[in-house]
Amino acid sequence: KKVVLAYSGGLDTSVIIPWLKEHYDGCEVIACCADVGQGDELDAVHDKALKSGASKVYIADLKEEFLKEYVWPTLKAGAVYEDKYLLGTSFARPIIAKKLVEIAKQEGADAIAHGATGKGNDQVRFELTVKALAPNITLIAPWREWDLDSRSAEIEYAKKHGIPIATENKTYSMDRNIWHLSHEGSDLEDPANEPHNSMFLISKAPEDAKDEPEYVTVDFEKGEPVAVNGKKMDPVALLTELNEIGARNGVGIVDICENRLVGMKSRGVYENPGGSILYYAHRELEYLCLDRMTYHFKQHVAVRFGELVYDGMWFCQLREALSAFVDSTQQTVTGTVKLKLYKGNIISAGSTSPYSLYSKEYVTFEHDDVYNQADATGFINLFGLPLKVRALMQEKNSK
Ligand code: ARG
Ligand code: SIN
Repeated sequence: KKVVLAYSGGLDTSVIIPWLKEHYDGCEVIACCADVGQGDELDAVHDKALKSGASKVYIADLKEEFLKEYVWPTLKAGAVYEDKYLLGTSFARPIIAKKLVEIAKQEGADAIAHGATGKGNDQVRFELTVKALAPNITLIAPWREWDLDSRSAEIEYAKKHGIPIATENKTYSMDRNIWHLSHEGSDLEDPANEPHNSMFLISKAPEDAKDEPEYVTVDFEKGEPVAVNGKKMDPVALLTELNEIGARNGVGIVDICENRLVGMKSRGVYENPGGSILYYAHRELEYLCLDRMTYHFKQHVAVRFGELVYDGMWFCQLREALSAFVDSTQQTVTGTVKLKLYKGNIISAGSTSPYSLYSKEYVTFEHDDVYNQADATGFINLFGLPLKVRALMQEKNSK
């Protein structure tokens, strides 16, 4: 028996290794750590997995694939969950689970295990992805089975099984990758509490950001970011640069009481410096390049797309179809956006595109030779006909 485990190096997933061996007849546990930019020391994670009893460890650098195949498509869709959350954890789960499936197939494993709790969204995202890619493999979620219901019980179990315990003084439940850092739990569990500035690990709080505004330009090609301040960069370098710029200006801190898929509300604080700049800039360019009908229709798509990503439905037919629509709209979303960042604010500072639909010739308040204002009379007569007909009916009946 072989089990492939989504491994992070933290206490939870380390404890799962001996637990699986104990409860699934001495199975072999293969630890898989997906590097999506969480910034951990991966050599240490490797050693810790072996010390915790894994028979083999895979470390997979997925950062570039994560950005190109999951983050950019979501950015292009403009998808934001409940108007605030940029989905940082949500779209990292399918790529991690896809890797687990790959390794499970390669190793001829019988099952895939993860360390997400039975109360959250992550369990759903991991498992839906596995179902979509390996419909017959067994899923194991120790949190839904074991009786280690507290941190001290876990530490006790870890000690008993010789697992190295780092003195993690973790206050919050956190999830980090190159796109975002989430904080949940502790004092945030009361939505009445303001987040402490001391919790921010990437961003400066707006009031601690520098006192001068900073300008940044982002170039897009077909809706995807390709350069910062005129310098072409690969996706990982580009986002890393924007994260630094955003963080020192205190932009992209989000505080939300969101609706989890499993029914409860949960309070989260997310740090998203680079991502917030990209979302803002991308939308600025769409203002220039998409026509009214397309922009408005795309707003609906964005809401649905965000729900699908949040719900772990990445590998579903509808998400793929919506992505095809989005990609079609992005063919002309090419150009440069300039933004001013100032103490937590992102402010437009001008955008340009060779495909801009903005026509000064038509819109000018000065003299023009292209637009006949008299045409508007007939347009308004027909556009307003239903209003007029209804008013006539109301007049007749009120007599
Ligand atoms: N609430 C966010 C989401 O559902 C963040 C979850 C963070 N996950 C974690 N295991 N700490 O996407
Ligand atoms: C968890 O890992 O269970 C907590 C967060 C979530 O999945 O929503």
